[in-house]
Amino acid sequence: MTHPNSSHDDDLAIITTRARAQTDISHIYEFLGCRTSDAWLKLAKDNLPLLLQDHANCEKKAAGTAMNLIFRYEFHRELQERLAQLVREEMLHYEQVLSLMKDRGIEWHYLPAGRYAKGLLKHKRTHEPAAMVDVLIIGAFIEARSCERFSALADVIDDEKLARYYKYLLKSESRHYEDYLNLARSITDESIDERVAFFRDVERELIDSPDDQLRFHSGVPSDELMAQSQANA
Ligand SMILES: [Fe+2]
Ligand SMILES: [Fe+2]
Repeated sequence: MTHPNSSHDDDLAIITTRARAQTDISHIYEFLGCRTSDAWLKLAKDNLPLLLQDHANCEKKAAGTAMNLIFRYEFHRELQERLAQLVREEMLHYEQVLSLMKDRGIEWHYLPAGRYAKGLLKHKRTHEPAAMVDVLIIGAFIEARSCERFSALADVIDDEKLARYYKYLLKSESRHYEDYLNLARSITDESIDERVAFFRDVERELIDSPDDQLRFHSGVPSDELMAQSQANA
């Protein structure tokens, strides 16, 4: 029996057992400057508990950031509508990841954020409406990269339920990417292409350069990080 308030489509038990229609993310590959390295995928696959903890943190942060934008840009009606839905969906994802962690007996622990979001946000211009354009473009890149990584991870991990869950996320996360990009376009008559190209380069550098930490959005594992993980294995 279905609880009257629960949506069948978002029921974790159903998501993780049933095959679902594939979400086409080819437009995401075109938008991003690079694909995730095999080295990152291999290390991530071997460190799923850490990755899930960081994933949970990212969902919460995505909701919090969007909520801040809802308050900061109250004059923009479409932003209110799009981001209200986004906040709701990110909090649902947060609850779902908490539950997946619990199912797997993964302990909850403090994990500081990596360099990725900071590395993007430090390039945000400070005057309006440029700041608003930039923060929305950054949002689009974070959502697009999440999609690219969920899809890549789903193909390599041995945890079938989690792979199905990652595929389920593609639908909403790819819409979030589109919403952020459309909102960035909606606030200026000028083309945002140059800023998109600028952030594409910054984002590619963060993903493609060596990184001493493993996180959901981290770069290529550095030699030091690889040595450390081999010593711990
Ligand atoms: Fe999410
Ligand atoms: Fe999202």
